[in-house]
Amino acid sequence: MRILVTGGAGYIGSHTVLELLNTGYEVVVLDNLSNSSPESLKRVEKLTGKKVTFYEADILDRDKLNEIFSKEKFDACIHFAGLKAVGESVEKPWEYYENNIAGTLTLVDVMRKHNLKNIIFSSSATVYGDPAFVPITEECPKGQCTNPYGWTKSMLEQVLSDIQKADKEWNVILLRYFNPIGAHKSGTMGEDPNGIPNNLMPYITQVAIGKRDHLTIFGNDYDTHDGTGVRDYIHVVDLAIGHVKALNKIKENCGLKIYNLGTGHGYSVLDIVKNFEEANGVKIPYEIGPRRSGDIATCYASADKAKEELGWTAQYGIKDMCADAWNWQKNNPNGYGK
Ligand code: UD1
Repeated sequence: MRILVTGGAGYIGSHTVLELLNTGYEVVVLDNLSNSSPESLKRVEKLTGKKVTFYEADILDRDKLNEIFSKEKFDACIHFAGLKAVGESVEKPWEYYENNIAGTLTLVDVMRKHNLKNIIFSSSATVYGDPAFVPITEECPKGQCTNPYGWTKSMLEQVLSDIQKADKEWNVILLRYFNPIGAHKSGTMGEDPNGIPNNLMPYITQVAIGKRDHLTIFGNDYDTHDGTGVRDYIHVVDLAIGHVKALNKIKENCGLKIYNLGTGHGYSVLDIVKNFEEANGVKIPYEIGPRRSGDIATCYASADKAKEELGWTAQYGIKDMCADAWNWQKNNPNGYGK
């Protein structure tokens, strides 16, 4: 089977490409390289000994998409491509709606014109807003997102669900990721954020390597066991394998399906600092700062549905996630060097 992976040079995309190749799929990557490096795919090829077909293309570029679809035959699309910086999305909402929503509409239109109606979409736990209950099951009502990035995920879930409802030939799987961290065991692939990291783990690894002098913890007065925010951190390789399992479901003509991809465990910011220090023998100086606007106290998944229906459970624990994130950063202080 031949799989189109949009955004396949990015952090989650590249790890997924690797797992797809290792499972025996052929992979074609489409990426505009706006926030990724082709070097990630070279590393994938080195690790797997297999070839990745790569097109530098934008999902908004209908002509280019048509050209690629006329040349290649795909069995399914895993759609990662999108802008993902929460803070930036508040500053540049138009760009986020244009890129993520119009881009996906264009992609999906080209897909249906070429009779490809199988899609796995990168969604996020952000669609639950401040969750009505934890652990969050897929039945938990969607909530108010706190930023345009989150709304693009929520709206695209609706768009893809409606398309599937109107045309039952579509198989649509919405995967709601919790907090992906960690890196491939080889230490040759990992997260390579532009500029100052927004997310916790890349910030911690940059403190560990000396690029930043301390971590600021955004609030210690939440209603959690130590006052700092609690999240469900999931190893990026586990997340990648979740996509391979979802493809098996697509093959059963599953219609519309929604799955949380999380571990079911919640860790606070201080838990992460402590685990990182213990796993790696590195000290992470921190200060307590004010809350970050839009943050919630607690978010963790019920991972039961993915276990029952996809046969998928996260295998890696928090220490692995911390060790692998550090191994990547240590060996690649400047990421892919883009
Ligand atoms: C954020 C986004 C979410 C997105 C996800 C992955 C929000 C509200 N949510 O999730 O939509 O899908 O990233 O990109 O922005 N923290 C610190 N100091 C830091 C960085 C983070 O204390 O320098 C804390 C946060 O307050 C939070 C936890 O660490 O409690 C995790 O933060 P982060 O990695 O940014 O992820 P989320 O906010 O959960």
